[in-house]
Amino acid sequence: MSTASRPDHYAVMGNPVAHSKSPLIHRLFAEQTGQQLQYDALLVPEDGFAQAIAIFFIRGGKGLNVTVPFKQQAWEIADELSERARPAGAVNTLMMDEQGTLFGDNTDGVGLLRDLGENLGIDVAGRNVLMLGAGGAARGVLAPLLEQRPVRLHVANRTARRATGLAAAFAAQGTLSASGLDDIPALRFDLVINATAAGLHGEVPALPAGTIGSDTWCYDMVYGTEPTAFMRYARQCGSAHTFDGLGMLVEQAAESFRLWRGITPRTAPVIAALRRQNAELVAQGE
Ligand code: ATR
Repeated sequence: MSTASRPDHYAVMGNPVAHSKSPLIHRLFAEQTGQQLQYDALLVPEDGFAQAIAIFFIRGGKGLNVTVPFKQQAWEIADELSERARPAGAVNTLMMDEQGTLFGDNTDGVGLLRDLGENLGIDVAGRNVLMLGAGGAARGVLAPLLEQRPVRLHVANRTARRATGLAAAFAAQGTLSASGLDDIPALRFDLVINATAAGLHGEVPALPAGTIGSDTWCYDMVYGTEPTAFMRYARQCGSAHTFDGLGMLVEQAAESFRLWRGITPRTAPVIAALRRQNAELVAQGE
């Protein structure tokens, strides 16, 4: 029973990973639910992901979160994939069973849907939805979005053929259309989701005038201590409803926690704690 006093070990692997909020989120979940666990952020070399996973589980690690740039690799390495990870082409949650089978899941889609539906009161059913971007982040959430039966889901991307490729891949699962950013259908969308990496370079995807109106919900899948570039752009376009992806981050973490620990933490107090921390960082000028 030498391991009896050692808490179960979890981690997030990424590169970069130092600014990850996941260790704090899982610490708050553990406190709230009375679970004993350790959760670290592990910086993994770009070419060392497979080895890092193997070492982590050989040493008795219980579960991993995976972030940029390793989600696609995690999908390839996993021995078994969940129903929702398979179409996503990406895995953000790994666990290993007693037989050494590495199981991969993707909780990003459910994280987005819970943030939209339960935290923000945005019902996707029957809405016109515009997805900006056709990379891994967009791909990971398309199937769960389509399950909500939007009246239309249009994927627009800087490189048009990536958008059409993605739409073709998911065509069986719902009403999907696709185009380049300059060719977006001229209709007022109810919900615009930014899944591009443009904000990482301080840029925004340029949209035709009229795409975003005052009633358009504008959701950025990324977050920062201050409103993101896309949120600021959406406000300039007149949107009165702009949201960052902090709630999605906490919701996907809660689903990982449930998979690992069999208990669902409450997310609202954790989202509130992260917002308070952000406000303090802004007040300190960071
Ligand atoms: P991720 O896994 O974060 O989605 P990715 O697979 O590299 O990363 O995809 C990045 C997405 O952001 C793509 O849709 C990319 O558009 P392209 O397919 O044309 O490259 C989009 N993107 C990145 N920078 C952008 C910018 N400055 N303006 C518009 N779209 C941008």
